[in-house]
Amino acid sequence: MSTLQGSELSSGRAGLAYTSEVARATAPIYERLHGVIPQIEWPVHAPLIAAINELKRLRSAIILAHNYQTPEIFHGVADLTGDSLALARQAVDTDADVIVLCGVHFMAETAKLVNPEKTVLIPDFEAGCSLAASITAEDVRLLRQRYPGVPVVTYVNTSAAVKAESDICCTSANALKVVESLGSERVIFLPDEFLGNYIASQTKVKLIIWKGHCEVHERFTAEDLCVYRQQYPDIQILAHPECPPDVLVEADFIGSTSGMIRHVGEERPQRVVMITECSMSDNVAVEYPEIEFIRPCNLCPHMKRITLPKILRSLQDLEYRVEVEPEVADGARRSLERMLEVGRS
Ligand code: 13P
Ligand code: SF4
Repeated sequence: MSTLQGSELSSGRAGLAYTSEVARATAPIYERLHGVIPQIEWPVHAPLIAAINELKRLRSAIILAHNYQTPEIFHGVADLTGDSLALARQAVDTDADVIVLCGVHFMAETAKLVNPEKTVLIPDFEAGCSLAASITAEDVRLLRQRYPGVPVVTYVNTSAAVKAESDICCTSANALKVVESLGSERVIFLPDEFLGNYIASQTKVKLIIWKGHCEVHERFTAEDLCVYRQQYPDIQILAHPECPPDVLVEADFIGSTSGMIRHVGEERPQRVVMITECSMSDNVAVEYPEIEFIRPCNLCPHMKRITLPKILRSLQDLEYRVEVEPEVADGARRSLERMLEVGRS
């Protein structure tokens, strides 16, 4: 890792003015973002974006951002973006010294597990997840006692300790493939009840499902979707499989965040609504200005803890370092690597 001089580190703190130099350097970024960020806000974001991009270079750092990050992060400072699966894969491939994970804690833990020798930072240590909080390693041990010999498939939205007690991980993008890869008649699937129900509807494998929920997706209702259809009869409704079953029944397409983005790119609907976290639509609308995005807004309070000032501080102070306890790291890594192996087969 490069050693930084004090003046280089403090330049980000001291020089955060919207100078003509900053305006010029960030103009191409704003050109892309003008449809989703009001011009009046740009002088606030631009100096931070310029400072972060400069510090990234000095630190030999890379920023990975989940699709739910705000557009100024997603399009302004991220080097690699994607859904949980893409972020896990990209974390394996990077040769940067420092990884800053703009997402939630389990994502940063995943990046650390597949890069034990690298510095992995999360700009806010409190960025959690209601699914990850819904289950403990002890719960998994009790499930194993109750269903001896039944393999455990664990959604990546969990702690490393839970992953370590599992046989294999999955994401919403590969859950069906992972479940079917085990060749077992029964599988314990955790912790997302709604994703589990959705996968169970696609396979002959019998799923024993934990009842955790995403606090963002569980708030959508089938009535919301009916109102969109009444208001806009030609609308395409895309939903994340963490939504309740009656919401998924009303959707035209069900997929992970990247699955939804791919669908929009391939189908180019005139009008679309993405039943998922707010920032998704903003980020995709930047790529497809000709498509009308109806934007329901359920914010993930954990994802929204990540902000440009916190990313800058994270790079300046190399905080907050994500570490995984040695007792669980090997087991958790094995579950993740088995998942990545399924993707390669
Ligand atoms: P994906 O991006 O993997 O679809 O996951 C959605 C999510 O809720 C991550 O927190
Ligand atoms: Fe967790 Fe839901 Fe937030 Fe994703 S959107 S981090 S699943 S609470």
